[in-house]
Amino acid sequence: MRRKLAAGNWKMNGTRQDLAEVAALAAAHPAADCEVLLCPPATLIAAMAERAAGTAVMVGGQDCHAAASGAHTGDIAAAMLKEAGASHVILGHSERRADHGETDTEVRAKAEAAHAAGLVAVICLGETEAQRDAGETLAVIGRQLAGSLPATASGADTVIAYEPVWAIGTGRTPTLQQIAEVHDFLRLSLRTHCGDEAGAEAFRLLYGGSVKPSNAAAIFAVANVDGALVGGASLKAADFGAIVAALDAAG
Ligand code: PGA
Repeated sequence: MRRKLAAGNWKMNGTRQDLAEVAALAAAHPAADCEVLLCPPATLIAAMAERAAGTAVMVGGQDCHAAASGAHTGDIAAAMLKEAGASHVILGHSERRADHGETDTEVRAKAEAAHAAGLVAVICLGETEAQRDAGETLAVIGRQLAGSLPATASGADTVIAYEPVWAIGTGRTPTLQQIAEVHDFLRLSLRTHCGDEAGAEAFRLLYGGSVKPSNAAAIFAVANVDGALVGGASLKAADFGAIVAALDAAG
């Protein structure tokens, strides 16, 4: 059985005063059935990990460099995230692919670095609106998966997040059928990656893009959706807690 995962991506939002949300979230879900992860800006990882210690909330980074150390001004190595208290790291988010020109090859190298440091990699994939309109969604997702996933990746060290670019921060979501189509395709593609069904079944597949309390339950009822990667609605414990509760209820 795959353990469900509710992951929050704070993006470039949050200062120390926002850490109160962690306690509120942990208090509302002292023993969530699903895993709960918050990925704040790097400046807050250590402080958030301190607040989250002893609770059901885990802490992650939003990116790491592929190298272990060196002359890379402004970048952060995976082992540094780990030392700061992170257990996971989001990689290949579409905002990083767009803002920083990250390629699948770079995302794969970062995931390998994350694994070497003992972090779970949350690898993000997703088509643009133009690609969907052109009927290229599954081709794009297949290409990104094949290019971004390390050869040794398993469900124990890697989570896949399907995030249509046009659904992120827009309030628009794909239909449940469109989500199901991509998640079923991902599960099938993972069989090729793993070479066996059990390996493919072990990966958690998250949906991301405008998930909120009002649509979470319907999305979580879709087959092969094992949780969500949530941006805007993860900033407030009340909203994210409602999403966690919906995931718990989805069983
Ligand atoms: P959103 O962001 O929930 O604000 O749409 C999702 C994401 O980018 O992970």
